[in-house]
Amino acid sequence: MRRTAARLVLISLSWAVLIGTQAASIVALSVAPALAVDPMTYIGKPPLGLPAVPVPAGNPLTKPKAELGRALYFDPRLLSIDGSVACASCHSPGLGWSNGAPVAVGVMGQKGGRSAPVIYNTAYEDLLFWDGRSNSLEDQAAGPIQNPIEMGQGEGNLPIVAKRLNALPSYRAWFMKVFNEPATPKNITQAIASYERTILSGNAPIDRFQAGDEKALSAQAQRGWELFKGKANCTTCHVGFNFADGDFHNLGVGMNRKKPDLGRYDVTKKDDDKGKFRTMTIREITESGPYMHDGSVATLEEVVELYDRGGDKNPNLDKQIVPLHLTKAEKADLVALLKEGFKGEELTIVFPELPK
Ligand code: HEC
Ligand code: HEC
Repeated sequence: MRRTAARLVLISLSWAVLIGTQAASIVALSVAPALAVDPMTYIGKPPLGLPAVPVPAGNPLTKPKAELGRALYFDPRLLSIDGSVACASCHSPGLGWSNGAPVAVGVMGQKGGRSAPVIYNTAYEDLLFWDGRSNSLEDQAAGPIQNPIEMGQGEGNLPIVAKRLNALPSYRAWFMKVFNEPATPKNITQAIASYERTILSGNAPIDRFQAGDEKALSAQAQRGWELFKGKANCTTCHVGFNFADGDFHNLGVGMNRKKPDLGRYDVTKKDDDKGKFRTMTIREITESGPYMHDGSVATLEEVVELYDRGGDKNPNLDKQIVPLHLTKAEKADLVALLKEGFKGEELTIVFPELPK
């Protein structure tokens, strides 16, 4: 799989490794390379191809709040029980805002059962998680902090996290400045959600192509785009500006396991929902493998094979997932589209200096 670490110019590999282990070594960088975009400038002005970012009435999006959220997002010291894990450990900008591994790894090296999804463009999603069990970024952010195998604080312990933040004078002062009150369970999640609302992926070749620039895609990728919308049937589900329908479908991935992950069923308890997972965006797809909820599909070539064979058989297979009978050349065209079409503009990720 290709990882273009250079895209996110300020990420060094060593930092991506360090974030999981040695909080103290996190350094602040501030050089802004030409052409890369500071996501903070997306506030009120999303990139080409994306509509205005929806913002909940109770949590207006401001730059100072997003900057505080950025510090929290990258800070493993206080949010995780043993100081080893930050949001960025599993959703790292250097690894396509995921973690480059099939499943997530949290405190004390514990492995979860699902792949860490990307967090860019989550601002637009109505339902979050592979099974849609959360309905806002604010609500979502409280989850991993308390989750025993992610950041490990334990259920109901957000007040303890707030207390630890307030014990650091510069965090306390920062919360006072942004919220007019010290850190609370509520404003911690509001700040983090605000930062996430700045992480957008747009202005990709596919956006420029759709806006009329015919040179934005190679001839092969253009053939792939015709297949994506036509014979290969991808736009049935990967549709709209984020190439995702916000709905849940069963492709059969992982359903042959002894105890399969039942996905959406765990939330709704409807038999119909067994093995359904949320359609994930195709944006930045080259960066975020391995693919699917269980990280079981390693490459985009294998993704195309999965769809070509009509998914994996199981009683609840989506009716729209049928064998595609793509030729070898068509598969290559589709893969070319996935590889060159969906990479958004480069982001400059400024590492925050962590408050003392
Ligand atoms: C130990 C790894 C780990 C850590 C740490 C972690 N996450 Fe996650 N995150 C995951 C996994 C795994 C999922 C998917 C879980 C599921 O669908 O059941 C997820 C899902 C999400 C989603 C939903 C994305 C979508 O498209 O549905 C968001 C947003 C998110 N995390 C943000 C955060 C934030 C903010 C933090 C820090 C407060 C954080 N995560 C910490 C592993 C992690
Ligand atoms: C019936 C709806 C549907 C159709 C049609 C569909 N997809 Fe998907 N796609 C999904 C769902 C749902 C997932 C997540 C499934 C899972 O994890 O079990 C997904 C996941 C993916 C992923 C992995 C995303 C990630 O972050 O892991 C890629 C890549 C992908 N699809 C590409 C395609 C392509 C290419 C086509 C056309 C050949 C296509 N899809 C057709 C619903 C669909």
